[in-house]
Amino acid sequence: MSDFDLKISGGTVANSAETFNADIGVKDGKIIAIAKSLGSADRVIDAGGKYVLPGGIEAHCHIEQESSSGLMTSDDYYSGSVSAAFGGNTCIVPFAAQHRGQSLAEVLETYHGRAAPKSVIDYSFHLIISDPTDDVLHRELPKAIADGITSFKIYMTYDRLIVDDGQMLDILAVAKKNGALTMIHAENHAMIKWMSDKLVDGGHGAPKYHALSHPRTAESEAINRAISLAGFLDAPILIVHVSSEAGARIIAKARYDGRKVFGETCPQYMFLNMEQMDLPGMHGAKLCCSPPLRDRASQEEIWRCLQNGTFQVYSSDHAPYRFDGTGKLHAGPEPDFPKIANGLPGIEMRLPLLFSEGFVKGRISLNHFVALAATNVSKIYGMDHCKGSITEGKDADIAIWDPQVTRVVTAADMHDNMEYTPYEGMEVTGWPTIVIQRGTVVVENNELKAGRGDGAFVPRKTIDCTGMPGRLAPELNPSLNFGVDFGL
Ligand code: URP
Ligand code: ZN
Ligand code: ZN
Repeated sequence: MSDFDLKISGGTVANSAETFNADIGVKDGKIIAIAKSLGSADRVIDAGGKYVLPGGIEAHCHIEQESSSGLMTSDDYYSGSVSAAFGGNTCIVPFAAQHRGQSLAEVLETYHGRAAPKSVIDYSFHLIISDPTDDVLHRELPKAIADGITSFKIYMTYDRLIVDDGQMLDILAVAKKNGALTMIHAENHAMIKWMSDKLVDGGHGAPKYHALSHPRTAESEAINRAISLAGFLDAPILIVHVSSEAGARIIAKARYDGRKVFGETCPQYMFLNMEQMDLPGMHGAKLCCSPPLRDRASQEEIWRCLQNGTFQVYSSDHAPYRFDGTGKLHAGPEPDFPKIANGLPGIEMRLPLLFSEGFVKGRISLNHFVALAATNVSKIYGMDHCKGSITEGKDADIAIWDPQVTRVVTAADMHDNMEYTPYEGMEVTGWPTIVIQRGTVVVENNELKAGRGDGAFVPRKTIDCTGMPGRLAPELNPSLNFGVDFGL
């Protein structure tokens, strides 16, 4: 009998803080040994000349989800998870979206029902909260958190999803009390509406004007407000998909000031820019996302903020809408930009782009790549007891990267349910050629080896803010406010 079910031998192993040469021994889906030379195994993968890295965790993606426009995204849990796996991921955390009038129990039942029979890799959910009734706040949310859904997203814009400042405070207070993390889509709704109306009324309804309609100031104002509201309660937050240096600077300052704030950016803000939206006809619609693409200088600024640690999270924000009446053009063949579905596909290219343009080109270290691919989100979102690093006792979720492979990105090679990729024609160096989930090969030789429903739900731990500074506002602090109990 062999010592291991699987041995990965001869590779260069990297975690977020170390790189070493070792074999990895896997049994019953777990990493059970890491050493220079291990014994026998039922299967041996020769990783000589390759990097053996933790499987990626894609923690911001919209899959089989009714979106801000009420439209269903084009990927279901099968195509979305397959595409993620081919891009080097072994876990996804999409959104389970509450629309107004829905109970969280109903929402979660729906999303468990969508994911369980189809996902080929492990998954969890963030909730989206758009209707924070008393029952949602005081019964359903604490129950969802206890069941392992320990993060939720709220929106400061979008008519169907927006919550006001008072509702934000209610949600933040529940999150703080129950150990959850609030993710915030921070853009000033009134500013966007004002700009959109002016542009459309002036005859500027083409897709490229979407980029002007969401000014940087709309982002920085909302980030500032979100940080003020969360800081008042000393509640941890994560500002998602930050697109501008102005927004990033507010996050960096808040962290410097001791606020419990995390920041996320996405490949579209590093690899794409608004000039690319100036296309004939409606083709610019393919690049409409919110916050929007910025200018070339902004791309460099976002890179710098990723390098310097202002952003701890790098996610695709995969929000796939096809270029037809089911997606981008759902409101007609030539809609003004406010009626174009927002979002870009990118779940498969998130990691290859960062590996190639970040690690191979020397902008970030291999360890920083691993941190952004998996480790940081495993810690921030409460999954590091089982995922996010190559460590004895953790799930054997591993991506073997071949640094010699070069590929030209094309939509036909993607495994999502889309007919375009925003990254068409880019050349990348390095590719995750073998992807392993809990010790079982998911992708090898450019073929899918896993089946529908092989992925499992991952209940997550509550959020650990140990070591993060922070303080309640004096008015809420019982030692300073004559002992008033605000229930925090
Ligand atoms: O445009 C985007 N990012 N669409 C996805 C929805 C969201 O707000 O994350
Ligand atoms: Zn968003
Ligand atoms: Zn999103």
